[in-house]
Amino acid sequence: MYIIGILKWKWEEIMIEKFEQTKKILKDQKQEQILEYPIRNKEEFVSEVLKINFEELNKLYDKAIKNEKVKNSKIEPIPYIEKDKLSEERKEYYKKIGENIIRNNEYAVVTMAGGQGSRLGHDGPKGTFDFGLENHKSIFEVLCDRLKEAYKKYNVYIPWYIMTSRQNNEDTINFFEKNNYFGYSKENIYFFKQGELPVLNDQGKLMLNKEGNINTAADGHGGIFVSMEKEKVTENMKQKGIKWVFIGPVDNVLIKMVDPIFIGICQDKNMLAGGKSIIKAYPEERVGVFCKKDGKPDVIEYTEISKEMAEMKNDKGELVYAESHINCNMFNIDIIEKISKNKLPYHCAHKKIEYLNKEGQVVKPEEPNAYKFEAFIFDAFKMLDEMAIFRVKREEEFAPIKNAEGKDSPKTALELYKNFYSNR
Ligand code: UTP
Repeated sequence: MYIIGILKWKWEEIMIEKFEQTKKILKDQKQEQILEYPIRNKEEFVSEVLKINFEELNKLYDKAIKNEKVKNSKIEPIPYIEKDKLSEERKEYYKKIGENIIRNNEYAVVTMAGGQGSRLGHDGPKGTFDFGLENHKSIFEVLCDRLKEAYKKYNVYIPWYIMTSRQNNEDTINFFEKNNYFGYSKENIYFFKQGELPVLNDQGKLMLNKEGNINTAADGHGGIFVSMEKEKVTENMKQKGIKWVFIGPVDNVLIKMVDPIFIGICQDKNMLAGGKSIIKAYPEERVGVFCKKDGKPDVIEYTEISKEMAEMKNDKGELVYAESHINCNMFNIDIIEKISKNKLPYHCAHKKIEYLNKEGQVVKPEEPNAYKFEAFIFDAFKMLDEMAIFRVKREEEFAPIKNAEGKDSPKTALELYKNFYSNR
């Protein structure tokens, strides 16, 4: 009893000291206003603040408010292979190579499911969303169907790694548990959490989240490489002998996570990575397109591309910059390791982010109120000399769910999904 009392007293003393240290850091960083808010758990708060790299955060905020533009680079079109133009023999050739890789247990799939899904506004991880199928399958189940199909064809359980965030990790795992892993092999499904960064309000100040702790957000899909390294995913893959890894988003219900032709092309062309593209529907479409920037593979965003470049046509009358990046990419395991040694740059997004006010009420802003910092997966492409760009058909592989209504919504995705499966 006496010893417990002493330990408790010691612990309290340490906590008081740590809290004083935290207060000093916050004061030095001109962030002491956060102490006026209803912090729910002092211990957690202290540990969160001590983790923050204020130097990096301050730089990101300065860059965000200055709205610094990217430097001028030399942009050129990137060569690509069009699936539709491949002969049957060629397709068969690549397919065989890819199938061998799958059968040899050298292939893995990663689904990026750490996003906030703020535009969709679904209450829960995006993958748990029921987008309107009669059988009420969730997005996760629809994705898993693809792996089950592959199992039937190749008699191989392709390992499936799911990247979550601190905010949705528990709900995601519980959903898989509750649904009995959709009948897939539980031993071959792995979850790992991505990194996060504090969000800053318009004045560059820290905020509290609804739990009364520091408000943070996932650090973007480009955080995947560092997270794979940190969470020992890459190590786990290497132990299994994985050579090729497909990395794709959670929110495309027509995603082809197992495409032996694509795997075969990457392997046959001795590439370290590949990316699927679909042809840009019209010059002003708000999509990023693959290109070469200063001689390296890259993606030029719709906000960066000039009107002239977006409308440029070749002598066949086709758009020159037409290879839309759909976030379905393939990486060799060695390059994943190399990329993860370098932190990708952060980009800033001005978003609506809920927070706790001084009275302890949750505020849901109507307008963007805070800056979120995210790394983009395609910033990794510039570390490569070449990439295999594989143009596939939009109606066969692209049905995104981004918005609650209108373009790229559950309604449009459902229609595309049904059309695809009724024509199969
Ligand atoms: P989006 O860029 O569309 O973002 O993600 P989002 O967070 O899902 O949705 P909004 O912008 O808040 O409405 C594209 C893919 O990248 C994943 C998403 O889960 C989605 O599969 N992603 C995005 C992450 O895994 N982590 C992130 O930090 C961001």
